[in-house]
Amino acid sequence: MPRKIILDVDTGSDDACAIMLAYLHPDIDLQAVCTVKGNQPIQYTTENTLRIRELLNADFPVYKGCSGSLVKNVVYPRIPPTANADAYDEQGNKIHIHQELFDLPESKGDIEELNAPNFYVDYLSKTREKITIVAVGPLTNLAVALIMKPEIAENIEEIVIMGGGWNITNATLAAEFNIYDDPEAAQRVLHCGAKITMVPLDATHSAYISREDAQDLRKINTPASLFAADLIDVRILVHDYAQPLEVPHTCALHDPLCIAYLIDPEVLQDVKLCNVEVSLSGLTEGQTCVDQRAIQENRNVNFAFKGDHERFSKILLEAFRG
Ligand code: BDR
Ligand code: CA
Repeated sequence: MPRKIILDVDTGSDDACAIMLAYLHPDIDLQAVCTVKGNQPIQYTTENTLRIRELLNADFPVYKGCSGSLVKNVVYPRIPPTANADAYDEQGNKIHIHQELFDLPESKGDIEELNAPNFYVDYLSKTREKITIVAVGPLTNLAVALIMKPEIAENIEEIVIMGGGWNITNATLAAEFNIYDDPEAAQRVLHCGAKITMVPLDATHSAYISREDAQDLRKINTPASLFAADLIDVRILVHDYAQPLEVPHTCALHDPLCIAYLIDPEVLQDVKLCNVEVSLSGLTEGQTCVDQRAIQENRNVNFAFKGDHERFSKILLEAFRG
């Protein structure tokens, strides 16, 4: 039986690949996509999500979500953190890891009436079977839903979060982007009582995606695989420029790794159940503090310290081959 999921995105180049992987892989049943501000303001992350849906010729419902964070006043355009830094291509043109709007036809703008937090409350209150939520943007939508109705956590099978970092950060010296964007929301979600798996930068950087993977996607030659290959090529240029990985000319493709984990859990390695808390202020604002002591209380998060490149690229290609 394919795993039923709701995907929460701030689309974004790697979010786009996560949507495509979730839609295309037969082991995943994509019930709905919720959008949130993050990589771009909400109108762009939503429009980008709709453009990807049309590229896939898909019909999953899209719910537009929160335009701001719980506490923080996020001002656009954002000062680019490392993860969002500009780079230059071989011709000297400025490129950005997340375009404001994807270079795809304008969408029909067809979104659902409910906003994302209300959708979560409604769906999770009514569902007869538990569902998995994969959140690959700031955690604002889910936090608002949990504040509105905390009992909905009982109907969540698992929450898989792209966010956080142990040895690696990208938004500040201490924090990863998704958690830094709305630390209070992250802290609320991490303590909701549901099973939580966190896919931090340590996992996404070690499960890198290479130029060869992008070439293999090109050979598949579908509109989706070609678009994904283009996004990966840009990500590699930006990583080489702003945050080179251990293997040169590769990139982290953060968000789809969460989907890959649901298809093959072994794609995440060194997963430890730890107490994870979010720092809410000062220099460490947005930092994920991971308790590694032998004796600790409140082990609330399965934190993945590593990822597997081979398994990840295999899953990705398998899905696009169809
Ligand atoms: C996360 O931040 C965003 O820029 C990406 O889409 C990813 O979800 C990585 O830190
Ligand atoms: Ca994202």
